[in-house]
Amino acid sequence: MDIPRHIAIIMDGNGRWAKKRLLPRFAGHARGVKRVKEIVEHCSGLGVKYLTLFAFGRENWKRPSEEVSFLMNLLLEQLGKEFLRLHENDVKIRFIGDRSRLEELICDKVNFIENLTKDNKKLNLNIALDYSGSYDIIQAVNLILAKGNHTQITEQIFEKYLLTYPDPAPDLFIRTSGEMRISNFMLWQISYTEMYFTSKLWPDFNKKALDEAIRWFNTRERRYGMTSEQL
Ligand code: IPE
Ligand code: IPE
Ligand code: MG
Repeated sequence: MDIPRHIAIIMDGNGRWAKKRLLPRFAGHARGVKRVKEIVEHCSGLGVKYLTLFAFGRENWKRPSEEVSFLMNLLLEQLGKEFLRLHENDVKIRFIGDRSRLEELICDKVNFIENLTKDNKKLNLNIALDYSGSYDIIQAVNLILAKGNHTQITEQIFEKYLLTYPDPAPDLFIRTSGEMRISNFMLWQISYTEMYFTSKLWPDFNKKALDEAIRWFNTRERRYGMTSEQL
């Protein structure tokens, strides 16, 4: 079976998972964390080289402040608990997004973990935090303007300024919870990505569910504009 080199996931449905059980939304987020660990481990075992997880989007600041603080605290706690194990497992962790609005404690941890794991090779784990696809594109444009040495750019030059550089584009995109939208996740990078949507809620998305997504991926014919016969 062909294992996608890069998988990108919108981990959605924590709130609805909790609501179905008459639990507060927080309980869904806490349960979602378990799946993050399971999926990261499984991807590493399968030989996936890049995994990008949408953890917190720029639009998510609009949630009730108690939920935002819960999510930030959960993140801080989990980073503290997990980074060493990930480092020992040769995982290179990178955070993509805007760091300027993050609490200092989180920012310090993020910088520390990136630096500690920067030479790891087994799996490249990108955690999208205060990220959006449109932000990614605009920050790239601003970097190019600030540099001031291009009067014209190409797609290849532009990509070098994206937050995901130098990672290859995702091969497989997964969104859980039945929503069929991108919600401002990667925009430029998914131009030829295979899109998989499942009604499973994120806290129910286990390794078997990932295997199923990968099996589906294997049924796709990636033509990149060509005809079947040309492949
Ligand atoms: C995804 O689950 C987690 C984050 C956005 C951090 P949601 O919290 O969006 O869950 P639903 O969509 O309300 O069920
Ligand atoms: C997208 O999910 C963001 C993350 C999973 C981090 P949302 O639940 O915020 O997206 P919308 O609002 O339903 O589009
Ligand atoms: Mg949601």
